[in-house]
Amino acid sequence: MLSTIAKIPCLDLKKQYAQIKDEVLKVTEEVFESNAFSGGPYVDAFEQHFADYCGTQYAMGVNNGTTALQLAMLALGVGPGDEVIIPANTFIATAWGASHVGATPVFVDCDPDTWEIDPAQIECRITERTKVIAGVHLYGQPFDVQAVKAIADRFGLKMIEDAAQAHGARYNGTRVGGFGEMACFSFYPGKNLGAYGEAGGMTTNDKAYYDHVRSLRNHGCQVRYYHDEVGYNMRMDGLQGAILDIKLRYLDAWNGRRQEIAKAYQQGITNPAVKMQKQPEWAESVYHLFVVTVENRDDFMTYLNENNVFPGLHYPVPCHLQKAYHNLSYHRGDFPHSEYLADHCLSLPMFAELTDEEVQHVINVINKY
Ligand SMILES: Cc1ncc(COP(=O)(O)O)c(C=O)c1O
Repeated sequence: MLSTIAKIPCLDLKKQYAQIKDEVLKVTEEVFESNAFSGGPYVDAFEQHFADYCGTQYAMGVNNGTTALQLAMLALGVGPGDEVIIPANTFIATAWGASHVGATPVFVDCDPDTWEIDPAQIECRITERTKVIAGVHLYGQPFDVQAVKAIADRFGLKMIEDAAQAHGARYNGTRVGGFGEMACFSFYPGKNLGAYGEAGGMTTNDKAYYDHVRSLRNHGCQVRYYHDEVGYNMRMDGLQGAILDIKLRYLDAWNGRRQEIAKAYQQGITNPAVKMQKQPEWAESVYHLFVVTVENRDDFMTYLNENNVFPGLHYPVPCHLQKAYHNLSYHRGDFPHSEYLADHCLSLPMFAELTDEEVQHVINVINKY
C-alpha cells in the first residue's frame, strides 16, 4: 500500500453534483412549476445552445443516445436487408442503431494504435447492401473522419458520427457533430455532458434530416394529432433539457480538466507494461475514458485495488463476439485488435473533480507495479 489515500473510483458524479446543486434544484423547481415536463421551452433552449456549441445548424434532444442512433438510421432510410458498417470496438449501442431498424451491423476492426475504427479495414466489408458507415469517436477521441468520409463518398454511402462519448472533441480543430449526415450523442449521466436521468441528442446541418427526426421522435407528426408516418415517443424530458443546459456552461472547463489529467497520466506513467491510446495530431480528445492496456490485466487490477485505485473496464467483449450477434457467425480471431483490447483494457480514474493528489497517486502506484 503506497499511501493512506481514500478509494479513487473510475468515476464519481457526487462531487460534480455538489458543485452545481443550487442551480440544478432551482431549475428543477422552475420546470415543475411551469409543468414543462416533456419537451418544451427548456429543451428548445438546450437544443439551440447545443447546436451553437457543436457548430452545427441544428440539434435535437431525444430520450437517449440509443434512440438517437435508431432515429438517424430511420431518417437515412436504412431498413431490413441493409448493412451498416460499425467498429467492433465500441459500446454495443452503436450496433443497436442498425439492429433496431432491422438492418445488419457489419463489423470492422480497430486501428491497432488509435483503437478507433480502422479506415483501411472498411472497403473490404462494403457490399451492394451497405448503406451507412457509423464511425465512433471512442473514449472521447475522434476517429479519422476525413479518411472514413472519403470512403463513404467514393461508394455513395452515408456517414454518421456516434459522438456519444465525445461532446466537445475536435477533429482538425473543428468540434465533432457536423462531419457526417448526422451525429448522435448520449447524455447518459456518466458522459462528459450527462443528464440526471436518460437523455440523448442528434446534431446535423441538414434541415431535411432535422425535420424528419423531429417528427419521428414525436409520434410522426408535425401538426398535433396529424400523423404523417408511424412514429415514436422519443422526446427529451423537460427536466433533462433544463439540467443539460446548465451543465453545458461548464462543459469546456470540465473537458479542460480531463485533458489536464490525461496529460499528467501520459507524461507521468512511465511503466512500459502500460500502453496508451495513440493520439494523432488531428485528434483532440475530451477523454471520456482513459483506457490503457496491460498484458496481465487481472493481476494489475488486483494490485491497483490493493492500492485504492478502482479502474473501470470498457469493454470486455467486442461487439462481434457478443451473444446477441451469434447469428452473424463471427468468430474469435476475426478482429484481432478489438479482441486484444477487450482482453487487456482497463479505464483509469477520469473525471474533472479528481484532485492533483489523487492523479499523482494513480501515477505512482502504476509506476511501482
Ligand atoms: C459509443 C456509444 N454509443 C451509444 C451509446 C448509447 O447511449 P445511451 O446509453 O444514452 O442510450 C453510448 C452510451 O452508453 C455509447 O457509449
